Amino acid sequence: MIIYAGKDYYDVSRKAANIMSAQIIMKPRTVLGLATGSTPVGMYRQLIEWYEKGDLDFSQVTTVNLDEYKGLSGNNNQSYRYFMNTNLFDHINIDKSRTYVPNGLEEDSRKACEDYNKIIRSVGGIDMQLLGIGGNGHIGFNEPGEAFEKETHCVDLTESTIKANARFFASMDEVPKQAYTMGIKNIMSAKKILLIAAGSAKADALYKSLYGPITPNVPASILQLHQDVTVVADEESLSLIREKGLL
Ligand code: PGA
Repeated sequence: MIIYAGKDYYDVSRKAANIMSAQIIMKPRTVLGLATGSTPVGMYRQLIEWYEKGDLDFSQVTTVNLDEYKGLSGNNNQSYRYFMNTNLFDHINIDKSRTYVPNGLEEDSRKACEDYNKIIRSVGGIDMQLLGIGGNGHIGFNEPGEAFEKETHCVDLTESTIKANARFFASMDEVPKQAYTMGIKNIMSAKKILLIAAGSAKADALYKSLYGPITPNVPASILQLHQDVTVVADEESLSLIREKGLL
């Protein structure tokens, strides 16, 4: 595992974008596993900027995203498909038919998940998987306690997540109660992992994930067993690791 320390969020975003750019340049037909959330936004912005300058070409890139809310269409501005379009895909020369997100409108959970596993296999697996990390160590929607051997599956969102999302919807009925997410097994099958983190709210999760026991109670701790992980994290998120003299 390699850990790069960034001064701040901007520095983390640039360093992570550099690593992903290198992947695209070295392998133009690459398959990228992408993530939503606030952390990758700066990295996506940087990639767009380099694309606009003519330094990056996404025309042969394929992407598979980690997760999607069950019940939301890609046109819903709370869907992860919408997030990816507006934060990245709409601004680069990627072929959108090669950008995959689980199908939130498929009501049959088993089918949605099997279809997504098939897609991941059919594109030849993931070359580089980008990950954010939750304050509790979750990756994708794999919350503490999920079995490490799972592939894409349907998860029940926690009461607190449902409540937090309620403000974005007209009524409680419209708030998604479930999501489709790649499982830890899909993530661990990626050839390379790029984990990004910023802010003090991630310090405990980062310390436990990178240096604590490997346990389903800290989903990201499984990454200690992956042979090619790069972590890019800002000083705030590395603070506990620094405090313990581990870095
Ligand atoms: P964030 O989310 O990037 O919005 O902090 C990361 C995560 O929960 O996986």
